[in-house]
Amino acid sequence: MPGKGDGDFLIFAGTASADLAASIARHFGVGLGASSVDHFPDGEVSVKLDEPVRGREVFIVQATSPPVNDHLVELLAFADACRRASAKGITAIVPYFGYARADKRHGRRESISASMVADLLQAVGITHVVTVDVHTQQLEGFFRIPVDSLTAVPILVDALRDRLQKGAVVVSPDAGRVRMATEFAHRLQTSVVVLHKRRESGTETKVTHLVGEVRGRACLIIDDMISTGGTMAESIEALLNADASPEIIVAATHGLLLDGAREHLSHKSVRKVFVTDTVASIEKDWPQLQIISVAPLIAGAIQRFMTDGSLSDLC
Ligand code: R5P
Repeated sequence: MPGKGDGDFLIFAGTASADLAASIARHFGVGLGASSVDHFPDGEVSVKLDEPVRGREVFIVQATSPPVNDHLVELLAFADACRRASAKGITAIVPYFGYARADKRHGRRESISASMVADLLQAVGITHVVTVDVHTQQLEGFFRIPVDSLTAVPILVDALRDRLQKGAVVVSPDAGRVRMATEFAHRLQTSVVVLHKRRESGTETKVTHLVGEVRGRACLIIDDMISTGGTMAESIEALLNADASPEIIVAATHGLLLDGAREHLSHKSVRKVFVTDTVASIEKDWPQLQIISVAPLIAGAIQRFMTDGSLSDLC
């Protein structure tokens, strides 16, 4: 691969993203970098690289998905090991970026954890971050190193296009997702409906307003993530109360699918739930769930990075 030096690079898999990292490596016809991750009885994590990285570009694939703190510290330890072993450049591929929602203070004396995580990643020598559909784009502003935020919207649209009923509208479950919903709608050549959501607690939300027309129309509800599924459940209820057709498809980039999410989404009007593999799925035998891989997207980003190519067509 012409571009960065001799084009020599290694892909390491963190324990949160083992399958995704293996799929990315397969795109290049290479194996994963050899490494071992151990946990001490007290819970401390230790990372060891089992092959040299001196002078090589390394890509560490690790989602900071639940258990968020364990996966985050493992990523930091991976980067620390690479820096101490003289890697040329260290790219953290964080397909799901935990703490991204904590991007501002809601009250006095509150932490901004997203900024703290950005500081930590840079402190251990990470030189470049790649992430997918990060909760807020302004997260990049917490970093002094390049951050490439990719989007899974095109691959989700390709996967669900044929499942959508004619005349279906794209629904943004809150004001924060309007931009993403607009991108879906643009690609599907349809219109956007916006719900206004009030968060009552970490697990409860309430839809207070609906902007747009859904009467008799099928709906595609999109979001960046499904965590407890509470937002989706509230959105489904609000749409059906507004006489939407009981033909609902749900799509989100990050399927955290915590306890209870499946129950929330197992509504008789929900035909299909699309998520990607930015978070390793713990759900088995769920016929409605369809998981689309972001491996080609991330492999494309690595390819362009190694050849100094533009990422414009991927972002
Ligand atoms: C919030 O602003 C996010 O975009 C998601 O809507 C939210 O985090 C989903 O969480 P849950 O599934 O727990 O409602």
